[in-house]
Amino acid sequence: MDRNAGRNGTRTSASASSTALLWKLRLRAAAAALAAVVFGGLYFFVRQAIKDDVWRFDFYLFNKSLATASLFLIALSLFLTSIHFISRRPRRALAYRKHYGLAGFWTGAAHGLASHLFLPEKFPLPSWIARHPAEAVLGLTALALFGGMAVLSLASVKGRLGGALWRRVLRFSGYTALILAGVHAGVLKWASWMKYIKTFESVLPSLSLPVVLFAAVALILRLAVRAAKRR
Ligand code: HEM
Repeated sequence: MDRNAGRNGTRTSASASSTALLWKLRLRAAAAALAAVVFGGLYFFVRQAIKDDVWRFDFYLFNKSLATASLFLIALSLFLTSIHFISRRPRRALAYRKHYGLAGFWTGAAHGLASHLFLPEKFPLPSWIARHPAEAVLGLTALALFGGMAVLSLASVKGRLGGALWRRVLRFSGYTALILAGVHAGVLKWASWMKYIKTFESVLPSLSLPVVLFAAVALILRLAVRAAKRR
């Protein structure tokens, strides 16, 4: 009787500490998302002030910071997957990976909604989609894949799919969606990036340029890890 009570007590305290850890990871990912959005907002504000002498922060700039924060968090999540293979503390990297990915998905969903619901004068629907069909399809497909990954990350779905298949589907969806989101940003911002590279007129590039380069680094690192594992 006493032994059972002891065992139940140990189980209860183990589940309480795993719930506390889960909330710690969630809060840290939310804090990272907030920090990325605030940094993006400040960056776009300073860039606009230098480039156009306009000292105003509006929803248009906020939406840009949501977009770049989303791509950054998703790239960071996949970057941590590769770091897990080379790190001395692999569990730490893995624990954060899922939560940064989820934070990136929600920020990306907010960006997609904000673009068209709250900025109809800049990106009116359906005419924006008619004028930018490839960019819209790339963004929507990336978002749908990240949404699918969020569903797959539920423990009940993992159990039903089985560990190996679950991991393969997540990996494939994650890198495919990262490429689609990177191309989505690239096609939309190409003219701005080229203008910056040719003239350096704005002093600072659009934040999407370093963020897309970081996404490319995450992808290249993954390919290098894959090649090393095969060897
Ligand atoms: C997770 C999915 C997505 C990611 C990671 C993403 C990321 C980005 C990035 C990095 C930019 C460039 C921001 C800038 O420097 O101005 C951008 C621009 C844009 N995206 Fe997305 N996007 C996603 C989904 C979507 C969706 C679903 C839509 C709506 C169909 C959308 C609509 C736009 C628009 C209208 C712009 C132009 C914003 C501007 O020039 O200010 N995006 N996106």
